[in-house]
Amino acid sequence: MVAGVTGVLEASGLTKAFGELLVLDGVDLQARAGQVLSVLGPSGCGKSTLLRVLAGFEEPTSGAVLLDGVRLTGPSPDRGMVAQAGGLFPWLTLRDNLAFGPVASRRSPAQVAAVVDELLTATGLDGFADALPKQLSGGMRQRASIAQVLANRPPVLLLDEPFGALDAQTRLRMHEWLRALLAERPTTVLLVTHDVEEALLLGDRLCLLSGRPAKIVEELPVPFGVHRGRGVLADPDFVRLKAAVLERVLAA
Ligand SMILES: Nc1ncnc2c1ncn2[C@@H]1O[C@H](COP(=O)(O)OP(=O)(O)OP(=O)(O)O)[C@@H](O)[C@H]1O
Ligand SMILES: [Mg+2]
Repeated sequence: MVAGVTGVLEASGLTKAFGELLVLDGVDLQARAGQVLSVLGPSGCGKSTLLRVLAGFEEPTSGAVLLDGVRLTGPSPDRGMVAQAGGLFPWLTLRDNLAFGPVASRRSPAQVAAVVDELLTATGLDGFADALPKQLSGGMRQRASIAQVLANRPPVLLLDEPFGALDAQTRLRMHEWLRALLAERPTTVLLVTHDVEEALLLGDRLCLLSGRPAKIVEELPVPFGVHRGRGVLADPDFVRLKAAVLERVLAA
């Protein structure tokens, strides 16, 4: 954690237009410290734009982004973002990809090695330290992309459909992996997805966006406890909530 940061990330009245195209229309949301907020919305509604504005890569047309109540402008190390396509440098080995942030922030070689080794173990990629990204499977690459950002220990992690390109079984494994990883590294997470099951499996709370221009149409707690695994998929309450949320997404 960055000293003094507890990691409450807020969007206040965020509006974003690209020329005539209005993409975000007054989005208010709050990602609570140490919790996962799932943001669910139809394809093309503005989810990636929202994350890019929250990360500081895009200026909002109006409204504000706040971290622990302080207004932010531009990117900062407090918010680590994993883009929809992942962020590994294709010409660097996995070890060098994971070391990139810690080296850039001038941590000592011993500290860099410790961070990298810890993340190689946490991702289950110990045997692939010297592999290039193209030599990894899709699931491995996604784990590595998340680890690359976590190497900077950001209090806030912004994830843009991190498992969208994976098959259903690999995705479930990734969900369990991410939950375990976050349990050991309390982090505020904003997870953008169009997958209702993923939003409910990973989120402590859920925000539902409308079609473009995106507005928040609903916000609800996800009531299945922090230790939920894939067993919750068979829980009748989970099945009911998933069906109800799916209807809301289709109507949004
Ligand atoms: N830099 C940009 N310039 C112009 N238009 C943009 C730009 N970025 C996004 N858009 C437009 O904003 C809208 C929302 O795009 P965005 O990528 O945020 O959607 P999304 O919800 O992430 O979609 P998907 O679910 O397919 O990932 C789209 O119509 C897109 O064309
Ligand atoms: Mg997107």
